[in-house]
Parts: sequence; C-alpha cells; structure tokens
Amino acid sequence: MDRMRGLLLRQDGVAETAGFVGNRLDRPGEVLELGEVPRPSPGPGQVLIKVRRAAVNPSDIAFVQGFYGQPRTKGRPAGFEGVGKVVEAGPGLMGRYLKGRDVAFYVTPDGSGTWGEYAVTRASVALPLKKGVADRDAAGLIVNPVTAAAMLDLVRDDEAFVFSAAASQLGKFIAGLARDQGKRMIAIVRREEPAAALKALGAAHVLNETDAGFETELARLFAAEKPVIFLDAVAGGSSPVIFRSMGENARWVIYGKLDPSPTEILEPGEMIFMNKSVEGFWTTKWAGETSFLRKLRVFGAVQDRFRDGRWATDVSVEVPLEHAIERLPQALAQPDGKVQIIVSD
Ligand SMILES: NC(=O)c1ccc[n+]([C@@H]2O[C@H](COP(=O)([O-])OP(=O)(O)OC[C@H]3O[C@@H](n4cnc5c(N)ncnc54)[C@H](OP(=O)(O)O)[C@@H]3O)[C@@H](O)[C@H]2O)c1
Repeated sequence: MDRMRGLLLRQDGVAETAGFVGNRLDRPGEVLELGEVPRPSPGPGQVLIKVRRAAVNPSDIAFVQGFYGQPRTKGRPAGFEGVGKVVEAGPGLMGRYLKGRDVAFYVTPDGSGTWGEYAVTRASVALPLKKGVADRDAAGLIVNPVTAAAMLDLVRDDEAFVFSAAASQLGKFIAGLARDQGKRMIAIVRREEPAAALKALGAAHVLNETDAGFETELARLFAAEKPVIFLDAVAGGSSPVIFRSMGENARWVIYGKLDPSPTEILEPGEMIFMNKSVEGFWTTKWAGETSFLRKLRVFGAVQDRFRDGRWATDVSVEVPLEHAIERLPQALAQPDGKVQIIVSD
C-alpha cells in the first residue's frame, strides 16, 4: 500500500477541559508528530487530493489541541483547508468531474487533513479553481473569504458595524468587501501598525483598544455611526466594553475566542430593557443552512476578488511540511500575516 507523510494528530477525541482558542501554538510536538501513514482512498462522494499548500488557521490550532467542536482521530493528518490537484475520485458524478482539476478544498469530518501529502474530502467541498487564482490565495480560499462574505450579510446596506481583531486576515478581507458594499467598518485593533493598512483596504474607522482615550472615542463614534452589529473574534479584552457602549438592539456576534479571559456581560439589564443580544456565528452552520445556488455564487465571487486583485492573502511565513513542528511556534508568533504549510511543489 502507498504511504505518505503528514503532520499526524497524537490524540483522539476532544480535550477534557474546555480550553483557550487563540492563534498561537507554542508546543506543537505535544499534539502533532511528523510521520508516515497509508495514503487514504476516497469513498463514495469523496475525492483524493495531492496537496500543494495548506492554511494554518486559528480553527486548526484549536482543533489539534482538542478545543474545537469536532473530535480528533489519532494518527490522521490535521489541517482543515488547502489547495491541490484531484488525483482520484470515489463513486459519484461530482468526483469524476473534478478528477485532474486543481481545487481549493476544506476537509470534512469523514476525511483526512490537509497537513499531509494527500487528503480526502467530500467532492462537494472541493472547488475547481478559476484561472489566475494563485496557490497562496487558494490555500485559504474557504475559511476566511467565505466567512467574510457570509458574515457581512448580517450587516444592512449603508450601516456601520464593529469588527474586533481587525488586523486578522479575515479583518483585511472584510475591510475591502464592506467598503464595496457600502457598509462602514469600525475596525478595532490592539496595535498601531495595522491601522493605516486597514484604512487603505477600506475600513471607515480604526480604533486602537490600547489607547488611553479608547472608551471616549468609542462613545463619540458610536453616537455618530450607531452600529448595531458587533462581529467579535476576541470575546474578552475590550469586547464587553464595546458591547456596553452600543445602543438599543445591538447584536454581539461571537465567532472566535482569541482572548483567554472569561467573557463578561457588564450590564445584563441592557439585554432586558434595550433588546441587546449575544449570539454565535459558525460558517459550517451557515454552509448547512444556505442554498447550493447561493454558495456557488459566493464561491465564484470570492475567487473573482482574488483574480482581479481586490483581495490578496497576506502570507508572512511559508513552512515546509517536514520542518513545521519546529518552525510553527515562531512563525505563528509573528504579529502580521498568515502562516502556510508548503506540502509539495
Ligand atoms: N466562526 C467561524 O466560522 C470562523 C471562520 C473563520 C475565522 N474565524 C475566526 O476568526 C478569527 C480570525 O481568524 P484569522 O484566520 O483571520 O486570524 P489571523 O489572521 O491568524 O489573525 C489573528 C488576529 O487576532 C488578533 N488577536 C489575537 N489574540 C488577540 C487578543 N487576545 N485580543 C485582540 N486581538 C487578538 C491578532 O492581533 P495582532 O495582529 O495584533 O497579533 C491577529 O490580528 C479567529 O478567531 C478565527 O477562529 C471564525
């Protein structure tokens, strides 16, 4: 049987305690090992993909530590998304159509991860690449770009919204898309450096949560802009203050947990008397509830944004698969840009 190399999960299931979901992985060797396993084969409705490049997202970091709502399988490669070529298809029309094509893809729970030389996933989450989409964009084409498109649907046209951790890759995508849709992004960052770039990308306002006058500036801006939606991946730090500063009907939409501190609601009375609310957002759920046609339109639109340069993935470090265990901690500690794993040429 053919064998392949991969970054293999060292544990089964989920972690016993709920954990912190950040974007750092300081001891990858505790949860992953470089090893060899039999090459997986595609079942009905699945395809086998020769992986070229894979994303390293906060959801991957959560998953390998057992903090993502999906159990791990010991000995299987990790990695949720990547780009490669379909080399084999299990029974099914879609797989047959994809065979031989370059695809951006996401790995479903019945598949095998992108941090390996070959990956298996359902044909329905392998998107044939349009000409002109670079591998560095294709490797992260689904998780963040699709989330950007789906989450912005929560904001009404001509409305302002608040967006935390705005220096993230998702924040950079949102900035441009929001501007093009006439939605005003109030971007919250924790460092000064990304502010100018975010404005150039399309953010209407950028506030630094570490500035002394942050709360005063927040109050002034919210009085003028009246944002209703707060898209929040931090769920800690200044999030409670931001939510308290918002007016009637404000919706705190939590879609990540980058801050390890407990998430507080400072004024529960506002939920009662001001109709404010807290909810979650998960693209996986969105995908399950959204029509095939709408998804096709979104997938096409995100590829077009990369093709014509309206979007570009900000890749800061490329790590070869065989050196990932030792290099990931330092690569992920860099403040700006995404880390990608180079799996093959
Ligand atoms: N729910 C969903 O369906 C869904 C889908 C996609 C993404 N997400 C979430 O979206 C978030 C962004 O993902 P990404 O891939 O775009 O991330 P990324 O490019 O890796 O960037 C992470 C960002 O988070 C910031 N950050 C980290 N810890 C922070 C803290 N304690 N307080 C404030 N900011 C903090 C970093 O700020 P610095 O630049 O200052 O270091 C960095 O800009 C993640 O939480 C991810 O899990 C959720």
